Amino acid sequence: MFIIKFGGSVITDKAKECCFKQEVVDRLAAELKHANKEVILIHGAGSFGHILAKKYKLNGGYKQKKQVEGFALTQAMVQRLNNLVLASLHNHDLPAVSIPPHAVLSLSNHKLSRVDYSIFQKYLDLGFMPVSFGDVALDKKLGFSICSGDLLVQLLAVHFKPEKVIFVLDEDGLYSANPKDDRNATFIERVTVKDLDKLTTRLNAHADVTKGMEGKLYTIKQIARVGVDTILLNGNVHNRLYDTLKGKKVRHTIVQGE
Ligand code: IPE
Repeated sequence: MFIIKFGGSVITDKAKECCFKQEVVDRLAAELKHANKEVILIHGAGSFGHILAKKYKLNGGYKQKKQVEGFALTQAMVQRLNNLVLASLHNHDLPAVSIPPHAVLSLSNHKLSRVDYSIFQKYLDLGFMPVSFGDVALDKKLGFSICSGDLLVQLLAVHFKPEKVIFVLDEDGLYSANPKDDRNATFIERVTVKDLDKLTTRLNAHADVTKGMEGKLYTIKQIARVGVDTILLNGNVHNRLYDTLKGKKVRHTIVQGE
């Protein structure tokens, strides 16, 4: 089984509110269908979630009444994005079912407090493709906060120990430094967690409420600790996902499980 995350910057235009990249999602859905693997799919919120979540400061938890409106709006918007993703998967004959995080888990000070993994397992056993996503969720300490898709991937990977975790990004993988402002930055094909610690990585310039690449590296380290490999690949390049699922050698980064 594979756990795959479609990053919000691949499936939406992060700069424009609620801008869904239909063609990209349709192509990725076709690649998933073609590869014919057992998959739990997670997708990010992109511009359906981050803009509102930032506006209403949802990740800091409940502080004022106005945020309640923001929470409700954000939940509706990410659900709308989820419906768009599901429709694309269904159009490609993939038996996708939605598992909204706000309904199956709760957090405590941003960390997981409770999650029902059995729902994912039961759907898998019946041949479905469970699909979950970055969402707002109840938080025991903070009232509410954000459950990022990366946190979901981490929890599910540690629990299910999939064959591989794949992050579908809008860049080829990891570099030794930010390639945009360091000409000596080199592409990393394979790396261990120990080497990861030495890396200078770039933080996303976007208005992300979850922590961009820094947060992702933390997630990947937790996954590596349970012995699972993580692959980072470019979802904007045709067949990188398909080829990776088929075990073909393409340009991507593998972070080796320990
Ligand atoms: C964020 O989810 C969820 C909300 C802002 C509500 P992610 O952190 O997984 O989303 P992307 O991949 O960065 O867009």
